[in-house]
Amino acid sequence: MSTAKRIYFNEVATRDGFQIEPSFIPTDDKIALVDALSECGYAKIEVTSFTSPKAIPMLRDAEEVMGRIRRVPGVEYTVLVPNLRGAERALESRADELNLVMSVSETHNLANLRMPREKSFAALSDVIRHVNGRTPINISLSCCFGCPMEGDVPEAEVLRWADRFAAFGADRVRGLTICDTTGMAHPAQVSRMVEVLQQRFAGLQLTLHFHNTRGMGLANVLAAVQGGITRFDGSLGGLGGCPYAPGASGNISSEDAVHMLDAMGYDTGMDIPRLLDVARQMPAIVGHEVPGQVAKAGRITDLHAPPPYVAELRAASA
Ligand code: COA
Ligand code: ZN
Repeated sequence: MSTAKRIYFNEVATRDGFQIEPSFIPTDDKIALVDALSECGYAKIEVTSFTSPKAIPMLRDAEEVMGRIRRVPGVEYTVLVPNLRGAERALESRADELNLVMSVSETHNLANLRMPREKSFAALSDVIRHVNGRTPINISLSCCFGCPMEGDVPEAEVLRWADRFAAFGADRVRGLTICDTTGMAHPAQVSRMVEVLQQRFAGLQLTLHFHNTRGMGLANVLAAVQGGITRFDGSLGGLGGCPYAPGASGNISSEDAVHMLDAMGYDTGMDIPRLLDVARQMPAIVGHEVPGQVAKAGRITDLHAPPPYVAELRAASA
């Protein structure tokens, strides 16, 4: 039996990735992609979001997607939910988990969710009380490592909001995702944050969500893993981005993160060749190049034939 440390991946390409794509991705393509991802070894897939179709037209087909995907035992199908209305829709669609989102930055919350944080907290609290443990709830806190409009976000502010959700109890709020929404985190900051989080929220599932906006994504994953974190969000192909960080690259690429951790001896539970096959379909699905690198370069174990003159040189020097 393997004694390698297990790392769990949550794929967010079809939610965090797709929501900012400019042209609508057909429902059949979304379903085919989720079905392909289900065979890759993910612990979770964030399939879609039950948001207002006016706010996020890309995901207006959430019911149909959730209704038609083939659910593989052992994979949890989670969905993003902004309010009670979204929670009702998610429960009806038999989501395995509801991922509730708000920002720890007041300005970002106003920009993204169009309400002050207190109002978001009240709305999400209603959802938590309404669901009342029937379906696990995860809380995603945006901008935990900095806000593109406010700048520094104090760690104490992150902990204050996390504490308020944790106070509902683990039977109602199962996990917390600490998001670096616009790629402002650096590894030293991540190391400090994960130490505090693990001490304080030992009873909760802790997930880290990084964006590679400034090229620090995998360095941050490494800092978190070395600090004891075992759960990560990633987006196939590195799809995603943020409307408030123009020109930014997206989430960390799932396949690049999995490939790195696998090379280091961690057990990611993923079928990497299969994952790369799916990753290579991403440019066709979204209609443009994607940032992920391993799908282009191949795995470090995919070797290339040397040019013919190498054999000649070898023979000549023998
Ligand atoms: N599902 C479907 N429709 C919803 C909805 C939901 N969860 N929540 C609100 N709506 C609809 C309302 O019915 C209303 O429709 P109408 O104009 O036809 O009457 C409209 O959206 C506005 O509703 P309101 O209650 O005023 O909400 P709002 O405009 O303040 O929107 C959010 C608040 C958060 C629901 C909305 O901005 C949203 O979904 N944002 C998406 C945020 C997001 O996913 N960001 C990226 C991920 S972090
Ligand atoms: Zn994100």
